[in-house]
Amino acid sequence: MENLKVKDNTLAPKGRLQIEWASNHMPVLNQIKKRFDREKPLTNLTLGACLHVTKETGVLIETFLAAGAEIALCCSNPLSTQDDVAAALAEEGVHVFAWREQTPEEYYWCIDKVIDYKPLITLDDGADFISIVHSKRPEALAKIKGGTEETTTGVLRLRAMEKAGALKYAIIAVNDAHTKYLFDNRYGTGQSTIDGILRATNILLAGKNFVVCGYGWCGRGIAMRAQGMGANVIVTEIDPLRALEAAMNGFRVMPMAEAATIGDIFLTATGDTSIIRGEHMQEMKDGAILANSGHFNVEISVKDLEELATSKRTMRLNLDEYSLKDGRKLFLVAEGRLVNLAAAEGHPSEVMDMSFANQSLCVENLAKTEKMPPKVHPVPKEIDLKVAYLKLNAMKIGIDRLTKEQEKYLATWEEGTI
Ligand SMILES: NC(=O)c1ccc[n+]([C@@H]2O[C@H](COP(=O)([O-])OP(=O)(O)OC[C@H]3O[C@@H](n4cnc5c(N)ncnc54)[C@H](O)[C@@H]3O)[C@@H](O)[C@H]2O)c1
Repeated sequence: MENLKVKDNTLAPKGRLQIEWASNHMPVLNQIKKRFDREKPLTNLTLGACLHVTKETGVLIETFLAAGAEIALCCSNPLSTQDDVAAALAEEGVHVFAWREQTPEEYYWCIDKVIDYKPLITLDDGADFISIVHSKRPEALAKIKGGTEETTTGVLRLRAMEKAGALKYAIIAVNDAHTKYLFDNRYGTGQSTIDGILRATNILLAGKNFVVCGYGWCGRGIAMRAQGMGANVIVTEIDPLRALEAAMNGFRVMPMAEAATIGDIFLTATGDTSIIRGEHMQEMKDGAILANSGHFNVEISVKDLEELATSKRTMRLNLDEYSLKDGRKLFLVAEGRLVNLAAAEGHPSEVMDMSFANQSLCVENLAKTEKMPPKVHPVPKEIDLKVAYLKLNAMKIGIDRLTKEQEKYLATWEEGTI
């Protein structure tokens, strides 16, 4: 059986340094790794992981290696693999099937290879892996005890599977832990999305009309950071509460048809499809830049852009220019794939520290508990709280504890106005 496929094995030393740099900023995961190394909770157990192969994922994989697991790893996006990290992990004995710039066929071939390892526990980011196991490789289901899901879109897909009665094994929705989405989706995506747009374009954000489509956890973070760089932020939404919240946070809120005419930069983060379509592109200013931070490359209709264009050029790394019939040019960053991972390095290590601490503790939990019913389960509250306490400790931040009097006061209804 083919036991790995990466772009270039000689990149391993560079990848090792990258993982070491990330590890320096991931104190919570390191603490868990030390315990795993002592206790070996995953001995003789195979993990099948479909994650963005970044330096932070490298630290997570090393945590599982320390726990005694055998690991097969593929990437969760055709453009997000850091080839040096993939090479370093391959050198450490991980069965890595990942490289940057895959065709859709290659992407699914890698998933298939990981399934060949017959994992007991799966880790997914976007639910492509779980979806393929269920639809194309159902024979692998018998062995699988449970899995985890990293992102909002994956959790949505899995809930849809559960509702349709199609989900055959238990999933822990890591995305929905407070110590994940409040930090990773907001501050992680907020910072790294701006990073990706700047690396691809190096434009000045100050004074630009920056349109954020979707004011969810990612959108909130992106809007906040774009505003911090001096951009005039405009939000589009379909949810009245989120639209109100954006308005009261000081952003202009309007329908996409209106925003299309004034935006300089457009950023989608909805987890939904066809947010920016041909009808919007027809109205955009010359030179408008389009990027996406949602999980799949369906938020900006690249098909519409291709149809409207008379020619296309690659201007620079991760930036394509589309010339339209009327002479206007529109620019698409990283093919409309998640810009922070395709054009930058993904989230900073400090937030992935918490997301991946949740991943590692949830995998340990799945390994040591009875097989759970085939549903989407929340991250156990004690894991979420533990990660928060460990992170505070690592940041040398102390907090107060309730006094006995306060505990009693908060639990009674008799005391009121005095
Ligand atoms: N780039 C990354 O590294 C990264 C990190 C975390 C999550 N994600 C992905 O980003 C996406 C958003 O995640 P989230 O956690 O912010 O989700 P969320 O559910 O908190 O927010 C999504 C928002 O988009 C809005 N929306 C839906 N359809 C819309 C439309 N047609 N027009 C305007 N707004 C619309 C929703 O009302 C909601 O407020 C998901 O695909 C998620 O998987 C990416």
